[in-house]
Amino acid sequence: MNTRPRQHLLAIEGMTVSEVVALLDLAENYALLNRSGKTQRDLLRGYTLINLFFEASTRTRTSFELAGKRLGADVLSMSVATSSINKGETLLDTAATLNAMHCDLLVVRHSLSGAANLLAQKVEASVINAGDGTHEHPTQALLDALTILRHKGRIAGLTVAICGDIAHSRVARSNIHLLTMLDATVHLVGPPTLIPSEVESLGWRNGQNAPRVAVFHDMAQGLAGADVVMMLRMQIERMQRSLVPSAREYFRFWGLDKEKLRYARPDALVMHPGPMNRGVEIDSGVADDPQRSVIKEQVEMGVAVRMAVLDTLARASVRHAR
Ligand code: CP
Repeated sequence: MNTRPRQHLLAIEGMTVSEVVALLDLAENYALLNRSGKTQRDLLRGYTLINLFFEASTRTRTSFELAGKRLGADVLSMSVATSSINKGETLLDTAATLNAMHCDLLVVRHSLSGAANLLAQKVEASVINAGDGTHEHPTQALLDALTILRHKGRIAGLTVAICGDIAHSRVARSNIHLLTMLDATVHLVGPPTLIPSEVESLGWRNGQNAPRVAVFHDMAQGLAGADVVMMLRMQIERMQRSLVPSAREYFRFWGLDKEKLRYARPDALVMHPGPMNRGVEIDSGVADDPQRSVIKEQVEMGVAVRMAVLDTLARASVRHAR
């Protein structure tokens, strides 16, 4: 058995159940510590964390920054717009520059699927994928799982409906891997133009290889029996052409409001990774309903999960021995 600690967090795919469960357990501890106001502020003293975001972010970037600071690391968020990347410096040259400064933890978001993986091969730092193209957003799936666990007490046996723009969503991909790994059933719900073409070839669609994933093109069918309804934003920035008729029409068929939420179980949670487009994929009536929506708690759990990830990866640091 390989007991070597993981150096990077690049994707949920390829992680073991025990790695995921250990991260979720540690994150729950950090969630409790954060609520009590007591964190281990010296755990990462002497470590340097650099946030390198080539795409916009509010939640992920700030929560990594907060997580690093709460654990005592030196944290630097690079402004890509005012860096030498703007003068034509490549991603790899930028990484080599940061490597020369002995960065320990490098958090990367990039529009290119595989960017974090590429960097991990070039730097000594632990690389954390904060979202790469349409590939994966592993810490989002971990914080989603932690939020579900806090409300439902389990993942196994639940039905999670992931609705909207599945085709361009790294959040959906990471969640599909994580939820099925923990024995949940996943319903992918959306118009045919927004469901990824590789779904069938990967055997996700009601296939024998992965019977835990099913595709629906109708909200009533897709939400039936759902314990969790996870709404996704349409990622217009990744679309080569318009894939839906209009925002108004999209909302009519695919937007979650109180009426459509009735298709799900009466105690179904409403989730959204953010940023939300109100009136397009979700109505304020459900997004802000404290009885059903856990969207704000997802943000809170984001800090706890990222503290757990930093803590775990720092143990594998090549520059520090604990
Ligand atoms: N969920 C998420 O990744 O949000 P940000 O784009 O604001 O980081």
